[in-house]
Amino acid sequence: MMILRLALAVAISAYATAQPASTSSLVTYIFGDSLTEVGNNNYLQYSLARADFPYYGVDFSGGKATGRFTNGRTIGDIISTKLGIPSPPPYLSLSQNDDAFLSGINYASGGAGILNETGIYFIQRLTFNDQINCFKKSKEVIRAKIGDGAANKHVNDAMYFIGLGSNDYVNNFLQPFMADGQQYTHDEFVELLTSTLNNQLTVLFQPTSHFHFLLFLYQKYQNRARDSSEQIGWSSALSFFFQHYYYYILSQYIYTFCLLSQ
Ligand SMILES: *[C@@H]1O[C@H](CO)[C@@H](O)[C@H](O)[C@H]1NC(C)=O
Repeated sequence: MMILRLALAVAISAYATAQPASTSSLVTYIFGDSLTEVGNNNYLQYSLARADFPYYGVDFSGGKATGRFTNGRTIGDIISTKLGIPSPPPYLSLSQNDDAFLSGINYASGGAGILNETGIYFIQRLTFNDQINCFKKSKEVIRAKIGDGAANKHVNDAMYFIGLGSNDYVNNFLQPFMADGQQYTHDEFVELLTSTLNNQLTVLFQPTSHFHFLLFLYQKYQNRARDSSEQIGWSSALSFFFQHYYYYILSQYIYTFCLLSQ
């Protein structure tokens, strides 16, 4: 963990130094679940995945609950600070003409997973597919504001964070009342997750040529795995991403790291 953390810190500072003089022009797009959410679910009236009440946020600036599922900052906030930029606002807080559309956006939503059905019992959340749709809508707003060419450059030069995967286990596969755990063996489930994510990343990044991209695959819940074969399953999922995306990533100047939190 220590080494990975160090690698992340090094990558961030390498990125920051690689940027032209003003890092304030760096734009980040954050996708994910409760580990990276900054308040989208506050805008979903019926969502049961909420963090807008005490004592969430007691250690955050202002000391009030913001929708972050933590007493303090999320990993997105921490990385933004390290990059010297403000942490981007929740997508659902923006109004159509908001200039904030040009300064990076956070689409993360507590309860979200790679799969549509993950976290369904929270009633409302932005699944990764929803987040990708929101990003698509954001690009339309950005195009309308600054034109096609500038908008493409704007999103191509951005840095992307994706933190997803835990809920596909904790709020799906490992829950006895969810169908996926009955329907799929673990190997099949890993295959479903990886192929789904593969398609989602293809859609997310389709028309662009060059990205700065940081992929987090949380392995936080490894200890809850039902048996050791599930842990092996996760490792094979992670190595799948290294095999498939490392090449893609190197060829496109994308930084990839797996954050293993256990
Ligand atoms: C998941 O939801 C998206 C819409 O957000 C839909 O296009 C897609 O077909 C769904 N996937 C599955 C496997 O149901």
